[in-house]
Amino acid sequence: MHTFQPYPIEVLELNPFTKIGSDWAVLTAGNEEKVNAMTVSWGGLGVLWGKNVGFIFVRDSRYTKEFIDNGDTFSLTFFPKDFHKTPLKYLGGVSGRNEDKIKAAHLGIDYADGVPYIDEGDFVITFKKLSATKIMPEDFIDGTIQDTFYKDGDLHTMYVGEILSILAR
Ligand SMILES: Cc1cc2nc3c(=O)[nH]c(=O)nc-3n(C[C@H](O)[C@H](O)[C@H](O)COP(=O)(O)O)c2cc1C
Repeated sequence: MHTFQPYPIEVLELNPFTKIGSDWAVLTAGNEEKVNAMTVSWGGLGVLWGKNVGFIFVRDSRYTKEFIDNGDTFSLTFFPKDFHKTPLKYLGGVSGRNEDKIKAAHLGIDYADGVPYIDEGDFVITFKKLSATKIMPEDFIDGTIQDTFYKDGDLHTMYVGEILSILAR
């Protein structure tokens, strides 16, 4: 188990386009008994409702969605630039419905005040759920979005979470 230290948000310099979009993160949710995790590359960090927040987009079909819906918290784990992507591809390629994929990917779970995250990461943000909004086809202004991303009807829910803690190795 690695040691993580609290990281002050005031000095955080994180490029969301590279850190989330190209390096990817692992979204983890659950409790001390049961946890699931999946790779994400869509999402962001910002300010909303007077709070520092993160937002993620999770399709209906994801098993992880059940863990987020049934709990109050979730986390994003980030990895060093040179981290081998194989385990992240695994978490983003198979469903935890069918197997213990965290174990199969040779990853471990740690907890920060009861919120699960991936031990092999080097940077973690934990969140308290503030809102869950299903993004409906009638909301799209750009007509190409529906056909490009939702032909199969597997819609995204946007979760906004208040940042509870930031941890770095
Ligand atoms: C690089 C990458 C990024 C992904 N980003 C997202 C995302 O932002 N939202 C989403 O719903 N699925 C995303 N996925 C797909 C899920 O990670 C994938 O469907 C996963 O197997 C779901 O696992 P689960 O059923 O155990 O929750 C991504 C997959 C990869 C490989």
